[in-house]
Amino acid sequence: MKLKKVLGIDIGGSGVKGAIVHTKEGKLKTKRYRIPTPQPATPEAVADVIKKIVDHFKWEGHVGVGFPGVIQQGFARTAANLDDSWIDVNLNELFSKKTGCEVHVVNDADAAGMAEMKFGSGKGFKGVALLVTVGTGLGTVIFTNGRLLPNMEMGHILLHGADAEEYASDAARKADDLSWEDWAGRFNEYLHRMEELLWPDMIIIGGGASKKDDKFIQHLDTKAKVVPATLLNEAGIIGAALTSKYYHKLEKKSGEK
Ligand code: BGC
Repeated sequence: MKLKKVLGIDIGGSGVKGAIVHTKEGKLKTKRYRIPTPQPATPEAVADVIKKIVDHFKWEGHVGVGFPGVIQQGFARTAANLDDSWIDVNLNELFSKKTGCEVHVVNDADAAGMAEMKFGSGKGFKGVALLVTVGTGLGTVIFTNGRLLPNMEMGHILLHGADAEEYASDAARKADDLSWEDWAGRFNEYLHRMEELLWPDMIIIGGGASKKDDKFIQHLDTKAKVVPATLLNEAGIIGAALTSKYYHKLEKKSGEK
């Protein structure tokens, strides 16, 4: 089967969004369909939402899902902004059983990064690129010569003695009622820490905040050039679809051995 079209789904802290993606063009083939993230966001409740999205598109093919936590071979290992009941659940299995489709789950920042490097701001870039998604959490992924290191989780480094995403995410901006300029000061500090540790040549800002880059990008003064993600918040959906295609290929290869 040629996985030209895959249903991409992005699980976020406030909404679960899906669309059918053309994986060669890196484009959405349908409108995005969004359902608010259920509260509490337990695996069963979110699996029901995923089933609703699959049914909405009358989808029977492959599904790629971006998840806001560490994913190892389909197992969730962390779920900072969802619910502890996710830890060590096999999500490939849970979502595949629920939907009847073949589902592959990856970390949401890894997914967004794959899409941006293939079709967005990072297209053709050969140096070290760091992508930071700014939303409920801070998602991070680094690419060197286009290859990624999965599950980097640099959103949880300590900044002023606390988890960095509690200080510099978009959720922190809203919770602390900060002006964009004040929030940009915090985010700039965070990016400087990233520079001291990782020395990227380019920093791409993704997630919900990438749509509002004109409100804060001028306040950032890192050595590395900072650019907004061009796929905006579609990157998570497109990337989830791409990674599903990638895993499908890998499984096919190991099955042939
Ligand atoms: C999670 C990451 C995720 C990021 C963005 C963080 O809280 O630990 O895995 O990529 O939020 O959703």
